[in-house]
Amino acid sequence: MRGILKRYRDLLPLNSDTPMISLQEGQTPLIPLDSIGKDLGVRLFAKYEGANPTGSFKDRGMVLAVAKAMEAGAKGVICASTGNTSASAAAYAARSGLSCIVLLPKGKVAMGKLAQAMIYGAKAVSVRGNFDEALQLALKAAEESGYAVVNSINRFRLWGQRSVAWEICDELGHAPDRVILPVGNAGNITASWAGFVQYARLGKSAHIPAMTGVQAEGASPLVTGKPFPEPETVATAIRIGRPVSGRRASWAAKMSGGEFLSVSDGEILEAQKMLARREGVFAEPASCAGIAGLYRMAADGRLPKNNEVVAILTGNGLKDPDAVLSGLQLPVETDADPESLRKVLS
Ligand code: F0G
Repeated sequence: MRGILKRYRDLLPLNSDTPMISLQEGQTPLIPLDSIGKDLGVRLFAKYEGANPTGSFKDRGMVLAVAKAMEAGAKGVICASTGNTSASAAAYAARSGLSCIVLLPKGKVAMGKLAQAMIYGAKAVSVRGNFDEALQLALKAAEESGYAVVNSINRFRLWGQRSVAWEICDELGHAPDRVILPVGNAGNITASWAGFVQYARLGKSAHIPAMTGVQAEGASPLVTGKPFPEPETVATAIRIGRPVSGRRASWAAKMSGGEFLSVSDGEILEAQKMLARREGVFAEPASCAGIAGLYRMAADGRLPKNNEVVAILTGNGLKDPDAVLSGLQLPVETDADPESLRKVLS
């Protein structure tokens, strides 16, 4: 059964007034990464969240947040976003007949995500400022408009996002030793941890994985312990300097025996290329921070051998073609005859 609300109805805060909306989100592939895993000396899987209906993990929480907004009679939904939240909010709002406002940091949203917000019919506003400033603006606008905020400060968003943990356990038959994922506003690591805790309490798994969060060096407040007033990274999805769920995320990492670490933009892009070329898996730059983080840990001798590790690849590579194309050669040209083709292939 696909669709988070139906599949996990017993684990979610639903009641008879909650509309059971769905875009058939969830049940994303858990792909073994044997080649990279061998490099690292671990049993490695990718939870490929790019296979969700709008191409990112956000759909898991958005479906519940929008259902709850409808249940509460909200006129519409509003969010600030580095791109994926806006795409997801716009899609579920469209499907549910709600209006949607998205506030986006100007010039820092990947093209695919911008296209999504537009085609789903959201009112998209480009804010001359970064994500953290756009979020403050969205909260203020929500107060004035009566729209429901569907950023991860919305507890239903995070509740729905727990489902990634449930799926991982359901598919493996147990909880993995470690889960590694990129961290921006720090909602997803907090939500995933809560999902593993909920499963363990229900006796559906025996332990909580070490929750390991990876930030980009230019936007790594949870690693340095200081806010980044001007965050900067090629991984625009996680270009966030003041994570709203930072404290709870730090608790989750600590309680589970995990940690936060940061990687450079170069390491992120290298990991993205490696995932594509060695495993056939294309994820957006932010998603690849987790893989880059694993290489960093292995190089430092901090990745226990033979561990079972799940890397959550949070967004689809197609979201951000510019990040790829700026670093690669475009196709060579040929005239449309076999001889010319032979020449360029030789
Ligand atoms: N990966 C991707 C692809 C994301 O879009 C985000 C967040 C994250 C990781 C980090 O998740 O914020 O819960 O720690 N994107 C948000 C957005 C901020 O607006 O789409 P987090």
